[in-house]
Amino acid sequence: MNVQPEIVVDVHLTGDDLRQKLAEDVRRGLAGRTKRIPPVWFYDETGSRLFEEITRLPEYYPTRAERHLLARHRSQIADIAGADTLVELGAGACDKTRVLLDAMTAQGGLRRYVPFDVSDDFLRVAAKDLRAAYADLDIHIVVGDFHEHLGRIPSDGRRLVAFLGGTIGNLVPDERRRFLFDLNCTMGYGDHLLLGSDLVKDPDRIVSAYDDAAGVTAEFNRNVLRVLNRQLGAAFEPQDFEHVARWNHQDQWIEMRLRSRCRQTVAIDDLDMAVEFDRGEEILTEISTKFTPDQVERELTDAGFVVDAMWGADDGEFLLSIAHPYC
Ligand code: SAH
Ligand code: AVI
Repeated sequence: MNVQPEIVVDVHLTGDDLRQKLAEDVRRGLAGRTKRIPPVWFYDETGSRLFEEITRLPEYYPTRAERHLLARHRSQIADIAGADTLVELGAGACDKTRVLLDAMTAQGGLRRYVPFDVSDDFLRVAAKDLRAAYADLDIHIVVGDFHEHLGRIPSDGRRLVAFLGGTIGNLVPDERRRFLFDLNCTMGYGDHLLLGSDLVKDPDRIVSAYDDAAGVTAEFNRNVLRVLNRQLGAAFEPQDFEHVARWNHQDQWIEMRLRSRCRQTVAIDDLDMAVEFDRGEEILTEISTKFTPDQVERELTDAGFVVDAMWGADDGEFLLSIAHPYC
């Protein structure tokens, strides 16, 4: 009889921790005139599902472009990494992961997959699906925040740490610097980082990827207000906020915002807070930075990585970089 190994789960962020963090972010982010909510709060179960829907939209090119690069260069990635463990940061539905798992299994050394994400339930379901397809693989889920818990990820073995989807672009420059530096500090001799970054291109193309005709991205954006309603007793009417996707030329990122359709005051009962909005006032909910290959190389080098290879720079769609810590 073939007995499948259990899925191990480490939780470094409980529901209570999350609620407390959300309360702090909302107190800080909605109290003043410049309003913002960090993008991590999109990803409750509904938000994670909506993101999966986004990845299948005709306008949203990054997922297809990255999958194409992964498929094309999978053997090189597996050979360079020579890893027995695949760690995936912000794993989400663990979907593109299968391309890597197949290539690393074929290469011969893979024995463990460690998906890391803030979205506990969604990750468990995704990992269960993987368990069915990769019966011999050890699966070790880690629930945590990649701004805080990188040091809690199992560090034994030779690891390929994948950070895909262009999620690095959702971090503001200071966060990105700190994240890459902290990640580098947790990586040892023999470990590699596989980084997916979206590239600068025609702004119209980028804007339509973040403002699709079917309105899925708009729902994803408004979903953050539902999270606040449920978790903090807020009284947002999501339809009173318009989805805005705007290219910021100076910073080379697309911004998602929620614009109040009217003058309104929204109560957040659990925080004893009332947030005032003028008509047209906006909340910044996400930035998604688009990079040049040189910029990615520079940021990796500055954080202490040596770049082994980059793929995708020529057609300018999306970039995959593999690098190892300089040590
Ligand atoms: N890697 C997948 C999913 C990208 S969506 C892909 O390429 O398609 C971004 C993922 O990062 C979501 O699953 C979200 O829950 C997770 N995430 C966002 N902020 C995070 C944080 N601070 N710590 C851990 N995970 C985070
Ligand atoms: C997860 N992240 C890389 C996505 C992006 O493209 O920045 C999130 C997203 N926001 C709107 N559409 C998709």
